[in-house]
Amino acid sequence: MKRIIITIDGWSSCGKSTLAKQLAKALDYLYVDSGAMYRAITLYFLRNHIDWTDKKEVKQALKSINLEFIFNPKNKISEIYLNGENIEYLVRELIIAEKVSDVAAIREVREFAVTQQKKMGVKKGIVMDGRDIGTVVFPKAELKIFMNADNAVRVQRRFKELYEKNPNVTIEEVKDNLEMRDYIDSHRKESPLKKAEDAITLDNTDLTEKQQFVKALAWARERIHPK
Ligand code: DC
Repeated sequence: MKRIIITIDGWSSCGKSTLAKQLAKALDYLYVDSGAMYRAITLYFLRNHIDWTDKKEVKQALKSINLEFIFNPKNKISEIYLNGENIEYLVRELIIAEKVSDVAAIREVREFAVTQQKKMGVKKGIVMDGRDIGTVVFPKAELKIFMNADNAVRVQRRFKELYEKNPNVTIEEVKDNLEMRDYIDSHRKESPLKKAEDAITLDNTDLTEKQQFVKALAWARERIHPK
């Protein structure tokens, strides 16, 4: 059967990874969370006190970073590993979210991540989500989805997710962080977040997870079995 590349880009917290995981499962494709790579690099920089405004230091540090995704059969998620350590849960913390957009804006960091992302798609059969997947990583992908949802809905969703792990988190903190990341991600010089011309917009403000999945799966099937 024909295997395709599916890219899912969009604003922070609009459900990209939920949809990407559902599609990958239904099609038996590989799911790659490209944001986790930028989060992992941020964690490394923070832990090792790397001054990421210094290009030389960044280049040197990147040489010591090995990122892998390893499938965990228990939760059926490909979890991210940094130099052999499972950091899947650590990278979701707010302290990482506060810095990751700055790190992801650095050209050397993007080149490092994008080179690896392109390799993962060589055999196709992949769903990758992020900000520049349809525009830069896989500009020839067969299906490109650009997701969006109302700001208030996105803040509520992210707050719920973070609150379950840390009840000290406030809605203001989450809102500020989301707005800041959206701004930096869409205004940076290197591969800013933007909709690819041939991407389909999916606004899920009023859609359930099931409804958006049904739509997206139909788009994928149309491309896998063109009439
Ligand atoms: O999807 P996420 O929230 O885990 O992404 C974390 C950050 O990484 C986000 O602020 C933007 C950046 N990112 C990026 O610049 N390019 C990608 N392909 C994925 C994420």
